[in-house]
Amino acid sequence: MRTAFITGITGQDGAYLSRLLLGKSYKIYGLVPRCEVDNKLRLGKILNHEDFHLIDGDLLDAASLLNILHSIKPNEIYNLGAQSHVGTSFNTAEYTAHVNGLGVTRLLDIVRILDYAPRIYQASSSELFGNAPAPQNENTPLEPCSPYAAAKLYAYHMVKIYRETYGLHASNGILFNHESPWRGEDFVTRKITKAVAEIAQGKRQDLSLGNLESRRDWGHARDYVEGMWSILQQAQPDDYILATGITYSVRDFVEAAFQEIGVQISWEGKGLEECGIDKETKRVLIKIDPLFFRPNEVHHLCGDASKAKNILKWEPQTSFKSMVSEMVQADISCLNSDWQEEDENDFFRNAA
Ligand code: NAP
Ligand code: GDD
Repeated sequence: MRTAFITGITGQDGAYLSRLLLGKSYKIYGLVPRCEVDNKLRLGKILNHEDFHLIDGDLLDAASLLNILHSIKPNEIYNLGAQSHVGTSFNTAEYTAHVNGLGVTRLLDIVRILDYAPRIYQASSSELFGNAPAPQNENTPLEPCSPYAAAKLYAYHMVKIYRETYGLHASNGILFNHESPWRGEDFVTRKITKAVAEIAQGKRQDLSLGNLESRRDWGHARDYVEGMWSILQQAQPDDYILATGITYSVRDFVEAAFQEIGVQISWEGKGLEECGIDKETKRVLIKIDPLFFRPNEVHHLCGDASKAKNILKWEPQTSFKSMVSEMVQADISCLNSDWQEEDENDFFRNAA
C-alpha cells in the first residue's frame, strides 16, 4: 500500500486529492494546523475512513514536520498548504512568505536528510507569471506581482534547486485557477455562486465585487488533482502547467452564474458607478466596491498545458459552463442542506 502525506488537506484541493488517493488505495496522512473553528467540513465522511489520518502540525514548525515524516515514511508528499489568498497577502506579506516560501524550504530540508526518498509535489501557481503576456507556458518569464506570488516563486526555485543539487524527486505543478463547490468563499468564483444562490432564494439583495475585467483560466479542482497525482507518477521529476487554455473575465463568470438561475444581467454605468442589473426586473444585483480591488492586479492568465497533455496525457474534463452550473447548484442545495451527502456519493462513484 502506498502512503501519501498531504499538507493543506483541509483545503479545496486537499479534499479532492484525498478522495482521489483513497480511491487508488493509498493510506493518507494529512497535516492539520491548529484552528479555532471547524476546518474539516470538506473532509466529511472520509474522516472515518480506516486509511485516512489527520496529524497536528504546521508548515511553520520544522519539528512537527520532521517527526511526522520520520514516523510515517510516505512514498509521496503533496505540499498544498498555504496562505492561498492573493489579496490577503498584501496585508500579510511576512506571514505569507513564512508559510508559502520558507514552509517549502523546511519540507525540502527535512526530506534531504531522511533515510528514504519520498516524491514531492509542490503546489505552484500561475500567479508566478504576473502580467507576462498570455498564453503562459513553462518557458514564460516569471514576473510575480503580489507577496503571495513572490513567496510561491521562491518556493518554486527551491524545488528546482533541491532537485538539481540533491537529486530529490521534487516537482512543481504550476496550476492555473481551479474551482469547485468546495472553493473557499472569499475567492471570486465561490463568492459569486454563493451570492447567486442566496439571491435566488430571496436571502440576499445584491453582491459587491472589485475588478470585473480580470481574466482567469478557470478549471475544475477535481480534474487538477488528477494532474498532481500524474506528476508524481513520472520517473523523472519536472515542472508542469495545468490549465484549460480558455479564459473568461470575472464579468463573464457573473453572467454565467446568474444565467443558471434564469437571470440575464445587463450592465450600466462606468467604473465604480457600474452596476449589474436584472434585465427583466431592472433590479440592481451587482455593485462595485473599491474594497475588493487589489493594490496590484494580474490582468490576464491563460495557460498552455501542452507539456502536461503530451507527457502526462492529462486533459481537463470539465467545461467552464458545467463547472459554473455545478457550483451554483451546489450552493443552492447547500442552502437546503442536502448537498454534502449527494456530492460525496458522486466522489466515491468517480473514484471507484
Ligand atoms: P485552500 O483551500 O485555501 O487551502 C489551503 C490549505 O492550507 C488549508 O488546508 C489550510 O489550513 C492550509 N494551511 C494554511 N496555513 C498553513 C500552515 N501554516 N501550515 C499548514 N497548512 C496550512 O487552497 P487550495 O485552493 O486548496 O489550494 C491548494 C494549494 O494550491 C495552495 O498552496 C494554493 O496556493 C495552491 N494553488 C491553488 C490554486 C487554485 O486555483 N485553487 C491555483 C494554483 C495554486 P486551514 O484549513 O486550517 O486554513
Ligand atoms: N477574491 C475576490 N473577491 N476577487 C475579486 C473580487 C472579489 O470580490 N472582485 C474581483 N476579483 C478579481 C480579483 O481581483 C482577481 O483578479 C480575480 O477576481 C480572481 O481572484 P481570486 O478568486 O481571489 O483568485 P486569484 O486569481 O487571485 O488567486 C487564485 O488563483 C491562483 C492561481 O492563479 C488563488 O487560488 C491562488 O491561491 C492561486 O495561486
